[in-house]
Amino acid sequence: MIKLTHTISSTQTLIQQQIGIGKTIGFVPTMGALHEGHLQLIRRAVAENDIVVVSIFVNPIQFNNPDDLAKYPRTLEADLQMLESTGCHLVFAPSAEEMYPEPDLTEFDFGQLDKVMEGKFRPGHFKGVAIVVKKLFEIVIPHKAYFGEKDFQQLAIIKKMVEILQMPVEIVPCAIVREPDGLAMSSRNARLTAVERAEAPIIFKALSGIKENHSWFIPDGVKQLVRGEIQESPFFRVEYVDIVDTETLQPFEDWNDVEHAVVCVAAFIGSVRLIDNIVLY
Ligand code: PAF
Repeated sequence: MIKLTHTISSTQTLIQQQIGIGKTIGFVPTMGALHEGHLQLIRRAVAENDIVVVSIFVNPIQFNNPDDLAKYPRTLEADLQMLESTGCHLVFAPSAEEMYPEPDLTEFDFGQLDKVMEGKFRPGHFKGVAIVVKKLFEIVIPHKAYFGEKDFQQLAIIKKMVEILQMPVEIVPCAIVREPDGLAMSSRNARLTAVERAEAPIIFKALSGIKENHSWFIPDGVKQLVRGEIQESPFFRVEYVDIVDTETLQPFEDWNDVEHAVVCVAAFIGSVRLIDNIVLY
């Protein structure tokens, strides 16, 4: 039977009991509206830890767009039902007042990591993510925490935050989970109309189409090709296509300049903003 908590103190009490008897804690932070992508993170956490904690909290301070925050799906009852089959032990679902009785003024210096891609188009987003993840880590004190690679830049920021604050948690990156037609699973997919949903896999088609042949072109050429292919669909408005070093997230000019490269995309389809990426090499 899964335990559900809404307060920080009851969550800490339960977790500290478990740590006290030597149990390892795995943690999957989420904003709810769970889908198979989340469930895979949680099943992996269950396989690798004694106790698994899932948080469900739509973190207001990471939304730079009030409309996106208002429309973000909130489905706690359905989420709890989905979690039943995963084997997780504790769900922490706090209110915004519980998490932020007063504004959290923590500042981070992520260098260039948050100056590109999502950081450029969603000012304040990563500060909000880092503040909430730091706070959740302090409450849950996990040995391991699991994050999906769809949010590639988020993963890099969280790894950096853990390094800066020397937090004793292992960050476990997990592969993107896709629908059979290639669309990366996301809570925001639920907001697509039937027509938009049918067009949405174009992002992955463009990304996977270029993976094998990328070295025929310079990085800028690949960016143009991917952008052009997505924008052939009148439903899309591409925000960015960037090709960056997987470690530094900085762009480069020649494939030989970096050991590993990733193509990252953000595009609106209707009012829904989707992101996706593919590691080229
Ligand atoms: O990836 C998410 O769902 C959120 O950004 C996270 C990590 C739960 C923080 O609110």
